[in-house]
Amino acid sequence: MSDVMDVRSEYIRARWAFIDGPRMVSLLRYLGATDEDFEQLKLVSEQLESDPTLPFRKSRNGRICLDPQTRRGYRLEAQPFVLSREEDFVRHDSETLRTFDEVQDDLQLNTALQAMLVFKFLVVHGVDVAHRPRLDYDRAEWICTLFNLRTVTTTGLLGEPALEGVHSDGVDHTMTTFLSARNMTADSAETFLHDMREVNGRRWHETDPTLLKGRARHGDFLDTLMVVDHEYKHSVSPVYPIDDTEPAIRDMLIFFTRKPTEKGHVSFRYDSVAPHRALPMSFGLPADLPALATAN
Ligand SMILES: [Fe+2]
Repeated sequence: MSDVMDVRSEYIRARWAFIDGPRMVSLLRYLGATDEDFEQLKLVSEQLESDPTLPFRKSRNGRICLDPQTRRGYRLEAQPFVLSREEDFVRHDSETLRTFDEVQDDLQLNTALQAMLVFKFLVVHGVDVAHRPRLDYDRAEWICTLFNLRTVTTTGLLGEPALEGVHSDGVDHTMTTFLSARNMTADSAETFLHDMREVNGRRWHETDPTLLKGRARHGDFLDTLMVVDHEYKHSVSPVYPIDDTEPAIRDMLIFFTRKPTEKGHVSFRYDSVAPHRALPMSFGLPADLPALATAN
């Protein structure tokens, strides 16, 4: 547990943290992940089929509530997904209600995935962050939207992990975890963290170097980046192929975590905390939460 608290301390200090894959494997194993499920996680993205708005991407998502009062995490019923310009997300599909294919049991019942949710909870719960408008910071629960994403570059179609350029994810805490890649160059898909004054929509290579606050590149299984989403903006460079006659593929898990919305928020009508009936899932959260909440 002390290594989780080391990550938490670093996250509180710098407002972001990069945890390399071997360290994540050790942390997640401590939190209940099995070796078999680590191996399964590398394959889960093969089941992705489509994306509602992006031609170079395949995706699934699912919502999970992390409830410190009951010390449970549980799968929430499906709702449409939307991000707005007001949340620093400027793209052709801003304000568009998007319905993704749903995360299935192969991912949500994976012990490594559940350990990632527990890990993120332990790092972020009780951390004081810049507040977003119309999120209810008096509520105990966290709403986590999990995305399993495959970005694919093919001849004539460049795969962009963040087509929107400089942006934020509209949440309090973003966590991105690398699963695998094929035929992808070693300089592909680097993440850049920008001061909040950087202009939304700028391409990663058009940004102001004086506003660049951090950079990280996911290259190994479970390499993980965590960011306080309303304190940094971010951008990501494209996925480039090594052999341009073959597709280049990058598979990721993305965890968006925020407080529940209030009336007037773009997601207010899509923020149910009812459990998912057809795809139920729940797991325990560690017991020493009061100590955590006061450790900030
Ligand atoms: Fe993002």
